[in-house]
Amino acid sequence: MSETRVTVFDTTLRDGEQAPGCSMTVEEKLRLARQLEKLGVDVIEAGFPIASDGDFAAVQAVAREVRRPRIAGLARTRPEDIDCAWEALREAARPRIHIFLATSDIHLQCKLKISRDDALRQIESAITRARGYCADVEFSPEDATRSEFAFLCRAVQAAVDAGATTINIPDTVGYTVPEEFRAIIGGLREQVRGIENVVISVHCHNDLGLAVANTLAALEAGARQVECTVNGIGERAGNAALEEIVMAMRVRHDRLAFETGVCGEEIYNTSQLLARTIAFAPQPNKAIVGANAFAHEAGIHQHGVLSNPLCYEIMTPESIGAPGNRIVLGKHSGRHALAKRYAELGYTVTGVELDAVYRGFTAMADRKKNIYDQDLVALLPRSKRAPEMAAGRAAFAG
Ligand code: KIV
Ligand code: ZN
Repeated sequence: MSETRVTVFDTTLRDGEQAPGCSMTVEEKLRLARQLEKLGVDVIEAGFPIASDGDFAAVQAVAREVRRPRIAGLARTRPEDIDCAWEALREAARPRIHIFLATSDIHLQCKLKISRDDALRQIESAITRARGYCADVEFSPEDATRSEFAFLCRAVQAAVDAGATTINIPDTVGYTVPEEFRAIIGGLREQVRGIENVVISVHCHNDLGLAVANTLAALEAGARQVECTVNGIGERAGNAALEEIVMAMRVRHDRLAFETGVCGEEIYNTSQLLARTIAFAPQPNKAIVGANAFAHEAGIHQHGVLSNPLCYEIMTPESIGAPGNRIVLGKHSGRHALAKRYAELGYTVTGVELDAVYRGFTAMADRKKNIYDQDLVALLPRSKRAPEMAAGRAAFAG
């Protein structure tokens, strides 16, 4: 693999599924996994097999059917977790066991109630056990960014020495900032013996809205796997959004000279499939895939976009497989966009007639949040509107 090729590890079906409103049936996970394969991700984390019978069945079904990407299953350091993960994964074409154990003092003392030495012993024996099953083993020191750095290095060293092939550094609670995260990744590369022989991965949560920025900073420091989810779903404020990472690399390749195997044109379909599967769609102003990501309501913007979309769009909707941009008519819209919409509806409205209709339109837009095509037709003089209304056009303006 080239030095700039980044492995995309999708955890929509595991971390994403852990968020409220996101649980999925085996059939739903399988359908999404097929789409993730089409999207071109390198690794699909299909679930946490010991967590439930359903999760076990989902990981097993994905492992059996989805053959190109690696399929990962999550496990704690307990032997029964690792055995269960392997049982679910064993028929995969390319299985990966992903083991995690917290390394921050707050997690060790308050949650796990074990000492640092106990943690090191657990890491060593868990990875040795997993390697007995599978050549591809990932280790995550949970809450890495709040762990004492010297101890984090010891934990990672124990994992590398025991045979982990990927070391994932999670910002579990979305606490770090880009500069600090870059230093953590750089520091690990300096301090841990043999780390040059493993892939360094990052897994960032979005509690401060920095998940993607932190992920990109880590790539600059030498990480070569990104863990992410479609639409950024995941615990609390979510995980780094796959579509944002991938499109940042594409649109700003001049500053972020990395490549992935993701097919940009499948991003929108994947986002929509996920939204139909879980309880919610991405927020309208969500970068890349939100309903407003390519919508323009303000008159100056509409004029610019109608002249040349690049005035206000840094990527085309087609580049992510989305339908074309939307010119939305609202109180900030101008005459250009209004006349264009009328033309699309089959009415030629120009000159003084357009001035009059535009006055009625802005008054209506002050009162209403959404303006529909019927509203626009109703603003036309009666003599003009009657025949066309029979055509019964409806739906949102734009
Ligand atoms: O956020 C986290 O620390 C995790 C690990 C299991 C990787 O999801
Ligand atoms: Zn996570």
